[in-house]
Amino acid sequence: MLDLRDDAVIRSWLTERDPTRLETLWEAADRVRAAQVGDEVHLRGLIEVSNICRRACAYCGISVHNKAIERYRMNREEILDCARRAKELGFGTVVIQGGEDPGLTGPFIADCIRAIKAEVNLAVTLSLGERTDDELALWREAGADRYLMRFETSNPVLYAKIHPAVANCPSLDRIAMLRRLERLGYEVGSGVMVGIPGQTWDDLVQDLRTFQSLDLDMIGIGPWLPHPATPLAKDIEAFDTPDQQVVNDKLTTLKMVALTRLLVPDANLPATTALATIDKDQGRELGLMSGGNVIMPNLTPPRYRVLYELYPDKACVNETAEECDVCLRGRIARIGRTVGVGPGQSPKQRRKAAQQSNANRGAA
Ligand code: 5AD
Ligand code: FES
Repeated sequence: MLDLRDDAVIRSWLTERDPTRLETLWEAADRVRAAQVGDEVHLRGLIEVSNICRRACAYCGISVHNKAIERYRMNREEILDCARRAKELGFGTVVIQGGEDPGLTGPFIADCIRAIKAEVNLAVTLSLGERTDDELALWREAGADRYLMRFETSNPVLYAKIHPAVANCPSLDRIAMLRRLERLGYEVGSGVMVGIPGQTWDDLVQDLRTFQSLDLDMIGIGPWLPHPATPLAKDIEAFDTPDQQVVNDKLTTLKMVALTRLLVPDANLPATTALATIDKDQGRELGLMSGGNVIMPNLTPPRYRVLYELYPDKACVNETAEECDVCLRGRIARIGRTVGVGPGQSPKQRRKAAQQSNANRGAA
């Protein structure tokens, strides 16, 4: 096990370029992954339910500023159809993801969750942006199991720069929202982008420390990918920090995944689509071999999938759910891993439940 108590050591791993030395990092992360979460790779079927968004995130291709794209919102039957497909393909979880679309109302999403639970009884993860306490409580009551909300960067100045204020749309403190989700009984996921213009190596160290302090169930890490219609890509010089700028490349992303595995050993870590996008041949596998244990295959109907363009040239955009399924199972098998069965509950939740029952026994 590598000793990562010192921030300077983490920083030096992030900037390390010697392949022989890096072998130590990959091996340590893979060993901890195997010991903590095993060889199973859990598949979470992603349903991109709406590309309508009221926010102005400077990196995101579906932000309110992009007037050039056609907008869509899936209806209840279309969403349920995707969930049925997930069941047929043997996935344990569906992820309902969308822009911050006011049309995805509290009652509409609650109804979808109940219908999915009643008909296919899969674990339900939500990824619907910053929402009110009432909505989060309603969805949890309706049966939602997990919520994903990346904090994107732990640097508050950079965060504010890439999330400009929008009229009549208050910005929440995402860290506080993550804590609230935990109190509501959700399994909580978060994550960051790597190589955001303006992000420094010290910021990445702090991102890793934040993962630790939040004790997250799931942590998604992908490279920032420039979308030509966004301010971050169009005006990159206004954001860059020339001396300290983190690179948005595969190697840095994989180092972040490996370090996350070592620092939060029992979290679920996806090999993200953004990573697969910068290396279409090997990105998924490399993510899984550097500490990852989850993949989120896309179940969105192809006609909508092309419109959910957070960044260009997204991996798997032209493949059907079935094609992705066959492809991913092959990739998983070829690296000697197995496909997980069942909901793939966070190992951390099992640990927390065991701690709770021990405490109860102690009190009795
Ligand atoms: N490049 C990489 N990742 C992006 N995301 C959004 N836009 C981009 C981009 N241009 C990520 C964010 C968000 C998640 C759903 O997708 O981290 O939280
Ligand atoms: Fe909506 Fe980013 S602008 S998710």
